[in-house]
Amino acid sequence: MKNIAILTSGGDSPGMNAAIRSIVRAGIYNKRRVFGIYRGYDGLIDNEIKELNSSDVSNIIQLGGTILKSARSERFMLPEFRKIAFENLQKNNIGSLIVLGGDGTFKGASVFSSEFKIQIIGIPCTIDNDLYGTDFCIGYDTAINTAMEAIDKIRDTADSHNRLFFIEVMGRDAGLIALRCGIAGGAEGILIPETVTDVDALVETLNKDWKRTKSSMIVVVAEGDEAGGAYEISKKVKEKCPKFDMRVTTLGHIQRGGSPTCMDRVLASRLGLAAVEALINNEQNLMVGIVNQHISKIPFDKATKHHQEINSELLHVLDVLAS
Ligand code: F6P
Repeated sequence: MKNIAILTSGGDSPGMNAAIRSIVRAGIYNKRRVFGIYRGYDGLIDNEIKELNSSDVSNIIQLGGTILKSARSERFMLPEFRKIAFENLQKNNIGSLIVLGGDGTFKGASVFSSEFKIQIIGIPCTIDNDLYGTDFCIGYDTAINTAMEAIDKIRDTADSHNRLFFIEVMGRDAGLIALRCGIAGGAEGILIPETVTDVDALVETLNKDWKRTKSSMIVVVAEGDEAGGAYEISKKVKEKCPKFDMRVTTLGHIQRGGSPTCMDRVLASRLGLAAVEALINNEQNLMVGIVNQHISKIPFDKATKHHQEINSELLHVLDVLAS
């Protein structure tokens, strides 16, 4: 059962296609047949499996989204459906699986490999960048650049009208998108779930900035901030400080699409090849990642149990430069 299969699962991220291309080409280079499973674990249950040739992955390195489609499978959480999924792999002589996704994808992979004889390698793909054991997940760089460009555009109009904007970015459990695009966009405040949000302190800072005759102010809010999303926080600020002319923008899924950046394409190409080479070396149940520019490997349970920590130096940069 030397055949390899790939699936993409959970929230898509720009660069997934570059990783698919890399896996297919690296698999064929190593004399393996490579199959694509459509719609993540759901497609595995429904046997939506098709062989991929080198030409099937031509001209996709620059595309956002995933040519294999993605899904968050409820059925895969149930043992009876995982059994069907395994039988479908057997029917196609597939003994190895490369899964592209985030936390939920790897938790599913971990359970699956503990129940059945299947070799699985994971590739971190999530714009949230919240997996432990890799400095960067595929899609994060593109997402922060998309968000930064949006902040720049909002800054133009905010400045023209002397307004305060609250901009909500993605990050259900993590503030890594908010932190980077906020610093890059010169935000006056960044609110993230990893730090305690103090609305009174925020109002004080904004008041101070306004007195210094700033002509616009931007507060970037991670959607998962414990004090609420951008709308809720803006309401609290408005109550305490009605003088501000405020607007709220939620960037939403625009952050998940678009052509991947050079960084994400190269990362995806490296991790796709590393995943195939790990399979060929008989490694299993681990995620390949990148740490200090070198390929790293970490068991699934570690990648999902510990979240990436916030770099305190970046928080310091924000504190000093926004003051
Ligand atoms: O992929 C991660 C993520 O983009 C989170 O930042 C966000 O909360 C979530 O996915 C949104 O998921 P969905 O597209 O299923 O609404």
